Amino acid sequence: MTSSLQRAVTLCTADMKLVDTCIHENLQSDIMMIPAIGHYIVNSGGKRLRPLLTLLTARLFGYKGTRHIPLSVVVEFIHTASLLHDDVVDSSNQRRGAPSANGVWGNQASVLVGDYLFSRAFQMMVSDGDMAMLKLMSDVTNALAEGEVLQLSRTFHLQMTEAECLEVIERKTAILFKAATEVGAHVAGQSSAVISDMAEYGMCLGVAFQLMDDALDYMAESEDAGKPVGHDLEEGKITLPLIHAMQQDEELAARVEMVSDRGCYANGDREWVRERVAAQGGSECAMQRASDYAVRAKKLLPQHADAELKGLLADLADFSAHRPY
Ligand code: IPE
Ligand code: IPE
Ligand code: MG
Ligand code: MG
Repeated sequence: MTSSLQRAVTLCTADMKLVDTCIHENLQSDIMMIPAIGHYIVNSGGKRLRPLLTLLTARLFGYKGTRHIPLSVVVEFIHTASLLHDDVVDSSNQRRGAPSANGVWGNQASVLVGDYLFSRAFQMMVSDGDMAMLKLMSDVTNALAEGEVLQLSRTFHLQMTEAECLEVIERKTAILFKAATEVGAHVAGQSSAVISDMAEYGMCLGVAFQLMDDALDYMAESEDAGKPVGHDLEEGKITLPLIHAMQQDEELAARVEMVSDRGCYANGDREWVRERVAAQGGSECAMQRASDYAVRAKKLLPQHADAELKGLLADLADFSAHRPY
């Protein structure tokens, strides 16, 4: 069966071509390392879910202009910049099934090109010329940075609660999904009530997406995920699958404490922990929460709207909570 993501890409083929052109135009610089790293990462096969959500939302409200193209690129650039930085922070050497940019060019280059993408995104918003949009995206970028710092400050925080876990998820990931759909409703000139519902839809979808990402870190194989797995605990990230499993299994909690004291894995810790989290249904618990958020997201879609587009947005919420990669 064709996945909802593929159907969304097909429906938005023409717009996605314009998005691609806009991405490449905005990666041009006479400092050769910028287009080199920029093209490497944008051509490496990301799902482009965030720009798709902006395009689909604008279309859901019958938008006929062209602003949604550069604005969806703004969202994808902020995402890409955050990945360049994230792989440095997480000491990760693989992304989208290939060596990560920091693996190829080193940490300094990744951080600096990430900064370039953030600043390019803001230049693009200034060209768009809408102060409301600039406010929205600057608040989101700020919250995203706060989310990453908050997560860092909770490294190996073994008493992490589900609520604390959700706070990190909302700030570091869901907020950009919220921006993606909010921007789409905003360019289409919707009322503040409709914009707010679409923003909340994006937020719930984004929480589902990150919960699933956290589940996949304990469930998936690295070849399928395209990035290292079993890596979150190694980096001190205490996520929902682990929290749930530790609540049921004292031996697991004790072993996690040893990993935390040591600050790294040893003696088959990775495999042992993954097996115990699996035995306690840790990922299933995170996936159940993700499903609940997808249900909440779908309820926020407007009642009277194009049935095909609305159905697709509903399916993308489900995809975020059930995706295999
Ligand atoms: C990865 O996002 C970072 C998270 C928020 C989990 P995606 O899974 O959307 O990354 P790409 O762009 O498709 O590679
Ligand atoms: C999402 O968290 C990172 C950002 C929001 C930038 P992760 O650290 O879990 O993302 P992956 O697993 O590396 O893609
Ligand atoms: Mg990471
Ligand atoms: Mg992850």
